[in-house]
Amino acid sequence: MRQMEWKAETPSAYKAPKTVHLDAVEGLEEKRWLTPDAELNRVLGGGIVAGSLVLVGGEPGIGKSTLFLQIALLLKDIKTLYISGEESEQQIKMRADRLKIRNDQFYLLTETSTQVIFQEIKKLEPQLVIIDSIQTLQSPLIESAPGSVSQIRETAAEMQRFAKETNTPVFLIGHITKDGAIAGPKILEHMVDTVLQFEGDQHYAYRILRTIKNRFGSTAELGIYEMTGAGLRQVNNPSEILISQRDDMLSGVAIASTIEGLRPMLVEVQALVTQSVYGTPQRTATGFDLRRLQLLLAVLEKRGGFHFGVKDVFLNIAGGLRIEDPSIDLAVLVALLSSFEDVGVSHKNCFAGEVGLSGEIRAVNRIEQRIAEAEKLGFEKIFISKYHKKGLDFSKLGIEVVPLGRVEEVYRLLF
Ligand code: TYD
Ligand code: MG
Repeated sequence: MRQMEWKAETPSAYKAPKTVHLDAVEGLEEKRWLTPDAELNRVLGGGIVAGSLVLVGGEPGIGKSTLFLQIALLLKDIKTLYISGEESEQQIKMRADRLKIRNDQFYLLTETSTQVIFQEIKKLEPQLVIIDSIQTLQSPLIESAPGSVSQIRETAAEMQRFAKETNTPVFLIGHITKDGAIAGPKILEHMVDTVLQFEGDQHYAYRILRTIKNRFGSTAELGIYEMTGAGLRQVNNPSEILISQRDDMLSGVAIASTIEGLRPMLVEVQALVTQSVYGTPQRTATGFDLRRLQLLLAVLEKRGGFHFGVKDVFLNIAGGLRIEDPSIDLAVLVALLSSFEDVGVSHKNCFAGEVGLSGEIRAVNRIEQRIAEAEKLGFEKIFISKYHKKGLDFSKLGIEVVPLGRVEEVYRLLF
């Protein structure tokens, strides 16, 4: 982390505007800090970028304050100012005690007025600023109450100016609910360099840090944590936690070999198909797009002759994860068929394929990586599309690769 040092300049060092020729502009290498938190580095596209403004959204209670307090405390060589408008110094101290991380470069300010905040910043000259939360900030230039659209906009703009002028990275934490009930920070998305979303299911300990927007990297990245009694633990091998450990074959369960961002992950899909007792059959999906589920049911009905129309269907992705990779289709289909027939699928099998409207199993990207991950985790067979480009050599693998063309073949081979 040593070579990544950068100095916070005082805002007064701001240059007067002047038109320049592009060739006259000195190229600046993007300076980044690799933090000790590999999951954060990943979602930021390779660490914290100097002068970047990052918005971190998430539902109240999900663990935003915990995560960013923890990250600040882990950055031992970086002078960090953590500004809280929500909690008292004692509350934050208690949380820090739970995390059990010592850091003598960590400073705390419980304040909401940006005027006071900038005075303190000028005195302290921090290298990193964290604001918890943007909804509590108040600029004396604006009359409306903290949390209002105009206050959020103005205070964020002040923070943006500070970040750019001094090259200091600033994290803005904001409360956002899934249904958009507290949508305030959403209006900032265009102003900031990076938007991260911290999400998770209250019934699970797992938390996902997802990149929504990133000027400095890909938006397909995921960071995975587990909330423990002493803060958030980085989950570096997600497959292990996403597949429940068991030896017997349960019906309605299938494993998908997915890729989120750059990372392959094996994920368990669970389906329950039961006789519908009400007039309209129910369809519920957790962690998977409901319309996509309805589409797959329609494909099974039309191409396979399975009468899901009279069944209730519940679908769940284990671990509280939301999967957007279309390669999970095949595992969803298998889980649905498995529950429909009440026949288990061997837990040594896994699946990677997209399902098309006419019932064809379509090729997915980075199939070699998916196969390698499945092999690494000890799976014996992986079912993929037969339409993968010729020339892939699977003969040397320790896992059997089974090519599939259509939905009917899936049924014939497995049930
Ligand atoms: P918090 O970070 O306050 O959430 P947010 O800032 O997003 O509102 O954390 C909320 C929950 O995390 C709270 O219910 C307590 C729990 N928690 C733990 O389980 N372990 C811990 O070590 C800490 C600090 C909190
Ligand atoms: Mg909080």
